[in-house]
Amino acid sequence: KGGKLLILPGDHIGPEVVTEALKVLDIIEEVTGAKFERDFDLCGGASLDKHKDSVTEAVLKKSVEVDAVFFGSAGGPEWGTVQPNPESGLLRIRQKMQIFANLRPCNFASKSLIHRSPIKPEIISGVDFTIIRENCGGAYFGTKIEEEDYGCDPWEYHRPEIERVARVAGALATQHDPPLPVWSVDKANVLANSRVWRRITHEVFEREFPKVEVMDQLADSLAMLLITKPTAFNGIIVTDNTFGDILSDESGGLTGSLGLLPSASLAGPPAAPGTRPSALGRNSAGGVLGLYEPVHGSAPDISGKGLANPVAQVLSLAMMLRYSFNMHHEAEVVEKAVERVLDSKADGGLEVRTGDLGGKAGTKEMSEAIQGEVRRL
Ligand code: NAI
Ligand code: MG
Repeated sequence: KGGKLLILPGDHIGPEVVTEALKVLDIIEEVTGAKFERDFDLCGGASLDKHKDSVTEAVLKKSVEVDAVFFGSAGGPEWGTVQPNPESGLLRIRQKMQIFANLRPCNFASKSLIHRSPIKPEIISGVDFTIIRENCGGAYFGTKIEEEDYGCDPWEYHRPEIERVARVAGALATQHDPPLPVWSVDKANVLANSRVWRRITHEVFEREFPKVEVMDQLADSLAMLLITKPTAFNGIIVTDNTFGDILSDESGGLTGSLGLLPSASLAGPPAAPGTRPSALGRNSAGGVLGLYEPVHGSAPDISGKGLANPVAQVLSLAMMLRYSFNMHHEAEVVEKAVERVLDSKADGGLEVRTGDLGGKAGTKEMSEAIQGEVRRL
């Protein structure tokens, strides 16, 4: 068990929370005997300072040779006018790795935090869906035209790009028994590329995932329903780059806690527990090549003070164990540990929460509490 990691802590709170998350990995190694080879390198502002580039060719090369990349966050005001900007390093890694499926779970790491949501508790309670955003195609790529009085971004998808992301949705849905429902989100009423997206998505499901219920949902209507009836979409939402960008930020807002949200970007469909993934994106560790990072940025306003919430980074580690190393049980242990820490007060224990969650704990205290729970579980 285990494998090779490229660790890119990045800037500001990135290294602070990555250090804490890796202590959780130490415990997993200790308890399971798994071994994770760790190669630390630079990306973002840290790389600009040393190499005058946001990421080096050497790091790009390594990103596809390892089993997973564990990323902190990149950027900060001190590199404000520098070109290339620090964040471009991450974009180049994403392209190099061809991690076309960006997963963002939307659920509550803790029931006792439900009141932090801007949505009424009775509406948001029990929400549990994952958005899969196609992340390497669509309107954000291709040949752009930018003139004085004219701008154009070709919004195009080819069959293989649609098929591979549909397969990620199918694979995720069938990790559960019974399979989770899937919503394919588009604007087929007005966009030609959406009609092709819809048709090919259904073809993939009929052929490869006949037991999965797949429904179509218009993107604009979903934007409204995520606020008024979010639990109606418990399951998997799969959508293109543009809609996914907007809808995944909206879903992040539903929880109201940036410090809790993890993400995974995968180069292929993940495998069900105990099985091996298909050839696309498969790594040598029994999982898929992926990059794991919190949704939040480098939080320069609180960096260097030991105040950052490590939970999003720790939950990103859990996703890494699940998808890149097929360690489903260990992933659940880490998630459960986080939940228990966040709910400690509800259970009559001491409250261990960082400032962003209205508590007084620091990064280390929060991390130590999580480590303690991981050991107990
Ligand atoms: P941000 O997510 O870094 O911070 C937004 C607010 O949330 C701040 O008040 C921050 O203190 C708070 N926050 C974020 N994470 C937290 C945590 N773990 N614990 C406690 N509080 C937390 O977004 P912002 O301020 O817009 O961007 C800061 C820098 O990060 C910029 O340079 C931006 O470009 C970069 N960024 C990088 C990303 C990445 O590496 N993937 C993603 C988003 C932004
Ligand atoms: Mg966005």
